[in-house]
This record gives sequence, structure tokens and C-alpha cells, in this order.
Amino acid sequence: MDTLLAEQRRHIGDFQVVDFVDEEQIAGLRKKLDVDVPLELHWTWEYGSEVEELRALYERGKKGQWNAEEDIDWSIPLAREEWFMIKEGGALMPSVLSMMGADDSICRAAAWDEFSHLISQLLHGEQAALQLCGQLVNTCPTMDAKWYAGSQVIDEVRHVEVFSKFLHRKMGVIHPIDPTLKVLLDSLLAAPTWKTKVLGMQTLFEGMAVGIMDLVKRANTSPLIADIITRVHQDEARHAAFGILTMRRTVREATPDEMTEMEDFSFNVLETLNANQQLDMLRDLCPKYGLDAENVVLMLLGQENWAQFNSDVFMHTVIPNLARLGLITERTEAKYRACGIMWGDRFGTAIDGDVQASLPGS
Ligand SMILES: [Fe+2]
Ligand SMILES: [Fe+2]
Repeated sequence: MDTLLAEQRRHIGDFQVVDFVDEEQIAGLRKKLDVDVPLELHWTWEYGSEVEELRALYERGKKGQWNAEEDIDWSIPLAREEWFMIKEGGALMPSVLSMMGADDSICRAAAWDEFSHLISQLLHGEQAALQLCGQLVNTCPTMDAKWYAGSQVIDEVRHVEVFSKFLHRKMGVIHPIDPTLKVLLDSLLAAPTWKTKVLGMQTLFEGMAVGIMDLVKRANTSPLIADIITRVHQDEARHAAFGILTMRRTVREATPDEMTEMEDFSFNVLETLNANQQLDMLRDLCPKYGLDAENVVLMLLGQENWAQFNSDVFMHTVIPNLARLGLITERTEAKYRACGIMWGDRFGTAIDGDVQASLPGS
């Protein structure tokens, strides 16, 4: 499998980044609203349960429903004039600005912008998850998978609802989708088989989402954000569990060639996300604060313990999950380590508690 987004690659120092700098090209990606999706719809006449663990997860999902309009206390304010996350290490831009001696109000403004940018990207990701789960309802072979995917559709609708309302009501902005994210999400939506879609969305992207949301939870100090992220994170943990349960069976039945394909696909998607090194965000926000995006990345890459802190979000859930599925092998492990997304034990230090709780028998 070839490197993804090869034409966008270049080097910053020794590190190969994915970098979009052509505004027209970025606008073109955002304007591409129609995606050709080859979808094979599958009927089944087996209405009883064939995949017990998915039925259990579906039952768990029914109990975990919540109402984004009524269960969230939208009266809790979020003020631009106050910090809503820890000042040190809560986000990249304010940390860099603080190191450069910027005053507190500038650092706070940058934290606001970076957070609204992050939640906007999560929002666009939620829309992709919604569309993809709709596809899974059609294309998954068993009734259990269809029921589960159907239940995930309403979860994803709720996530689109809660993040878009949060951005509208509290932050006043929705940032456009980052180009690297758009390309990757389009490729999952257009993937030819349901197995690749589940590996891409539920295993890789939702595994990443669980890690990102946990880091946000730890850094943030606003009760409103805490409530929203905790609720979404619990749903995402079920979705990541669906990825694990489905991929366990898929891996058991896979030929050596199919295994190689899945191993390479997983590595390429995660490597590409990492290769962006937040340049899409930095290119958007840095000019406003007099920073140079490339210098920020160069500075990060030059830190002594870069690989360790860079791998944090990957080692939280997605890498340990892939390792447990047998999708990180001796052949690919060195590649993960070389690009700074695997650190320490390949199984991580702990698997996310909510993901663990969603797996049957735990
Ligand atoms: Fe979601
Ligand atoms: Fe999800």
C-alpha cells in the first residue's frame, strides 16, 4: 500500500509532514460535497441473534441514550474572559505563546480558538460517522450488526447535534474541515467493503476520538464541557467496542494477504493523521498570533521527549486496541515507533475504562 497523500508530503527537519498550503486546493476539498460510494446492500432473513456480543452491545446502547437538548444544562456560561482549561499543557497554541512571554489574555484567546477548532473537527468527524453508520446498516451481513449500526446512527446524530449546538451557542463559530481530515474521511466513506469501513471508522477514528476526548476531559475545567465530553466519550467507547468485537471475528477469518492489507491500512491512516502534526490547525490560527506554523512544528519536533508526548493520544486506546487485535505485528511495529506514535509497551499502560466496560464479559 502506498503512502497516503504522497503529493502533500515534504520534510520539516527529518520529519515527513503532510502539509496543505494551497488555499485553492483546500477550498476545492471543502467544496467536494458528493462522494461516490460503491455500496452493496445486503438482505438477511435471519432475524434471531447470530452475534451474541453485538446484541449485548446494542442492549447497552439502548440504556445509554441521552437527550442533547434536555439533559445538558445549557444555561452554564462559557466566557471568553475566563480560562476553561488548565493554563499549562491544556493546548498547544497557548503553551507556545506563554513560553514566548505573551500575556494571559492572548494565551486565553488562543486557547479559545484552538478549542473551537478542535471541536469543529470533531463535529465534522461526527457527520462522517453518521454517514458511515448509515452505510453499515445497508451493507453489514448480520441482523445484529444492522441493529447495532442503526443504534449508532442515532448516537452520531446526537453528537452532531450536541457539538453543533455547543459551537453555535457557546463559541460562536464553526471552523471549516481540515483538508487532511476531509481526505481521510472521504476515503473511509468510499471504502469498498464494510470491514474496511469498520476498521477505519470504529477502530481507528473512534479509537482516536476516545483518546482525544479523554485528554480534553483531563485538561478542561468547565462543567459544561465536562458534561458534554463525558457523555459523548461514553457513547464513543461503545462504538470503539463495536470495532473491537467486529474486527476480532474479521481477523480470525482473514487470510494472510487480508491481514497484511489491514495492518498496512491501519498504519497508513494513523501515520497520515500524525504526519499532519496539527499543521492544518496551525496554518489557520498562527497568523492571528504572529506565530509561524512551520516554526511551531519544528520546535515541537526538536523537544527531547517528543516521541513520548506525541504518542500519548495514540497509546491511549487505538494502538493498544490494534495490538490486541493482532493488527500490529513485528513487520509494522518498527514503523509505528519510527514516526513517534508508539511508545513503551505496545499494549499501552491501560485500555480506556469505558471501552473495557462495553466489551462483553467485563
Ligand atoms: Fe460520535
Ligand atoms: Fe462514534
